[in-house]
Amino acid sequence: MKIGIIGSGGREHAICKSLHNSDETKKIYCFPGNAGTSEIAENIDIDLENFELIKDVILEKKIDLIVIGPEKPLVDGLVDYLEEFNIKVFGPNKVASQLEGSKIFTKKLCKKFNIPTAKFGIFNTKENAFNFLNKSNFPIVVKADNLAAGKGVYICNSKQEANLAVDEIFGGKFGVAENILIEEFLKGEEMSFFTIHDGKSFKNFGTAQDHKRVLEGDKGKNTGGMGAYSPSRLINDKLEKKIIDKIIEPTLKGLNEIGNQFKGFLYTGLMIVDEEPYLIEYNVRMGDPECQTIIPKLKTNLYEILLACCDGKLNEVNIEWLNKKSLCIVVCSKGYPDNYEKYIEIENINEIKEDNDQFIFHAGTTKKGNKIYATGGRVLNFVTLSEDFRSAKKDLLKKIDYLNWAGGFYRKDIGHKVIK
Ligand code: AMP
Ligand code: GLY
Repeated sequence: MKIGIIGSGGREHAICKSLHNSDETKKIYCFPGNAGTSEIAENIDIDLENFELIKDVILEKKIDLIVIGPEKPLVDGLVDYLEEFNIKVFGPNKVASQLEGSKIFTKKLCKKFNIPTAKFGIFNTKENAFNFLNKSNFPIVVKADNLAAGKGVYICNSKQEANLAVDEIFGGKFGVAENILIEEFLKGEEMSFFTIHDGKSFKNFGTAQDHKRVLEGDKGKNTGGMGAYSPSRLINDKLEKKIIDKIIEPTLKGLNEIGNQFKGFLYTGLMIVDEEPYLIEYNVRMGDPECQTIIPKLKTNLYEILLACCDGKLNEVNIEWLNKKSLCIVVCSKGYPDNYEKYIEIENINEIKEDNDQFIFHAGTTKKGNKIYATGGRVLNFVTLSEDFRSAKKDLLKKIDYLNWAGGFYRKDIGHKVIK
């Protein structure tokens, strides 16, 4: 089978490696991939907004299955477009992708189906938003409706901060804004809960806790994710049942009522408050770095699972996992998430060895000749599986130390909630 993977991050490299291990895989193409994927797949440098060109390449190369990693092509309707040409695609369609593409779409669904989430208001003018903020308690959360690469959320400690957020969002910082979302600040602990869906049924696909802030001690700016561990320390059978019964099932019912189904990975971003789950956000894809953290624990052939989802036969597959702890530390370019230099060589990367329990997934890297250069903010993901988080972390830090890359930095406290 020939497989195509859309995306270029650590998530896509992890998916690529897992699929590469399958006997059924004849060849993998990555659109556009990174230096890591280029070792096991053919990278195709392509504009991900050019759906027609993507389709032409898929048909020309006779690719049997396409897996879409990032949210943008999903929200833009790449699945719908490719399916018109009878291409098999793993990922949700454009309407279902509104779960991530429009925070207001999801909030309205929550209201209709009584899904636990932060109390909220939707405002269509600055004046209405300002009037509301005049009467509000702080902290409060102000959000842009549309995709904003993780930047459209403002946690505001004062009226001034909230007014500024409203100004920036209506000022067009994240594209044209017709509405704005203001919601109650929930105090609890976050958890990422993953499920995989075939349109009819779904199965659990692990849990993780991400570390979104750039600095140790969960301080500093928000990032795409500086590291994660899996499973989340919060998960237990009772909580899992609540998440499925109160949040995921009613969401799928809501999609069904508008004539839609969900196929793909669903990432339920939760705040756990006094053992009760509240929906913070949906993402219609795997998380990054959660994917890199979870996929190495998968025992079942990923190809078989993805194909079963495309064929509506997920109930015929038994998904099995290694009973291990997984920890992932992300090495970033100095300066991230603000400006950073590009094309900095990662000198020692080829000397770092992987084994059955230790993995390196590339993100923002490019290969030129035999050399590997950092071209993105998040550059490498170091992942270790172990019996316990403490020894996983020890191994990871040793590896990153050995890499000794002057252009990079990382958080040394990933997993601090499970490693005292
Ligand atoms: P989102 O993009 O909606 O996931 O928001 C980004 C981050 O902002 C989340 O991971 C949370 O840490 C935080 N956040 C979002 N909404 C809330 C809320 N209502 N209460 C507390 N924190 C929130
Ligand atoms: N790690 C957060 C995300 O993938 O959105």
